[in-house]
Amino acid sequence: MKTLILFSTRDGQTREIASFLASELKELGVEADAVNLHRADDIPWEHYNRVVIGASIRYGHFHSGVERFVKKHLQHLQAVPSAFYSVNLVARKPEKRSPQTNNYTRKFLLRSPWQPTRCEVFAGALRYPRYRWYDRVMIRLIMKMTGGETDTHKEVVYTDWDQVSRFAREIAHLVSK
Ligand SMILES: Cc1cc2nc3c(=O)[nH]c(=O)nc-3n(C[C@H](O)[C@H](O)[C@H](O)COP(=O)(O)O)c2cc1C
Repeated sequence: MKTLILFSTRDGQTREIASFLASELKELGVEADAVNLHRADDIPWEHYNRVVIGASIRYGHFHSGVERFVKKHLQHLQAVPSAFYSVNLVARKPEKRSPQTNNYTRKFLLRSPWQPTRCEVFAGALRYPRYRWYDRVMIRLIMKMTGGETDTHKEVVYTDWDQVSRFAREIAHLVSK
């Protein structure tokens, strides 16, 4: 049996976290597949005894496909121990990096019919040079208002990889609530 890690990403950071999780799990002796949630049509659920979903925030929202996926596959998600992680830039501030203090995550859990066994919030990446003009301007404005990086030549990865490792260890020991 394996662990299925489904990720919803726009710029790749949530996928990087999913790949890192998968490699950490493998080191712990747990086989894991990292799969793009938006391309996962035919999932062989019988091969998996744990499921993780990771999703990033853009302009205040997870991709609408995440909610649709959860609704569509609710029975399978509820049948095994599961975990959710969210990725956003607000979480670069440690006090906004828990499911209770990170508004996007808290609201997701409140609305979601799926209640994961574990939930974690990770700080994402800021990659100005890769953004389109409009996004660069908007993100810089948000960064300016919240005391963040405003140099648009920079790429900054705020993800705490030790936190991701700890999450992998918790996933490896997950049992249903
Ligand atoms: C256009 C755009 C909008 C974003 N909006 C938000 C936001 O509203 N709140 C936030 O905390 N982070 C926001 N972010 C930061 C992303 O959540 C962060 O860059 C994350 O690493 C993206 O993950 P991904 O690469 O997997 O999509 C935004 C990033 C971009 C490029």
